[in-house]
Amino acid sequence: MATAAPLANEMINTPAEATGEYKEMLVRLLTRQIYAETATSEVFGKAITAAPNWQEKELAAEFAAEEARHARGLYDILTDLGEDPEAIIAGRPDAEEYWSLDLSNWLDIAVFNFTVDRAGSHQIMEYRQSSYVPWGESQEEVLEDEEDHYGNGVENLKQFAKDPEQLAAFQKIFDRVMPNCIKRAFGRLEGPDNEFCLQHGLKRHTTEEIINRYLEEMREHMDGTGLMFPPMSAFEAINCELADSTREILQSMQR
Ligand SMILES: [Fe+2]
Ligand SMILES: [Fe+2]
Repeated sequence: MATAAPLANEMINTPAEATGEYKEMLVRLLTRQIYAETATSEVFGKAITAAPNWQEKELAAEFAAEEARHARGLYDILTDLGEDPEAIIAGRPDAEEYWSLDLSNWLDIAVFNFTVDRAGSHQIMEYRQSSYVPWGESQEEVLEDEEDHYGNGVENLKQFAKDPEQLAAFQKIFDRVMPNCIKRAFGRLEGPDNEFCLQHGLKRHTTEEIINRYLEEMREHMDGTGLMFPPMSAFEAINCELADSTREILQSMQR
């Protein structure tokens, strides 16, 4: 007989206790994260070649190794749950296509680091408090690494912003990557999956709340640099679903 899924305040401490629908959803979320971690590791791997100077190359190498370590943590968690992580990762879409990037272009990678990698962190902030304890506990260290990645992303934006031509190039890529990131990184706004995750403590906030928290943080760092949120038409062009509260944040910093 299938065991009932645990409720939000109930913690699951071992793989054996994760069963039924709960386990299914858990594996789906872990799959999404291991997709992101492995793809990001590969992006930073390419950044070693694309970066303009040694200091940036060294950072890219460091970040690639850290993302690989994040993937390893999930790899082990999935293995403990009786899943085959190699088969899961083999099903992942191509990073370049998925995130709408040109990985031979350093600016694309800089925009990726500032935009997409940070969106991932906001998802991980949810998982840190996951009712699946082996996962939640392992995410503290991951988030520490991610702070450094974002610090570098913000620093790069500030450097580019000093030169109007570079800023314009950054903006152009941002206009393409950011709407795609909102669409892909956070999933659907409503729906039974969201409800299930909230009910069973696999997530602690709604998708709308997570997206808004992310955009408010982005806006803080963009403030004063001249970088603006992409125009609404860029979101509409790819059918990116947005809540009214999210539109308000976007519209507060547009040309
Ligand atoms: Fe990561
Ligand atoms: Fe990262």
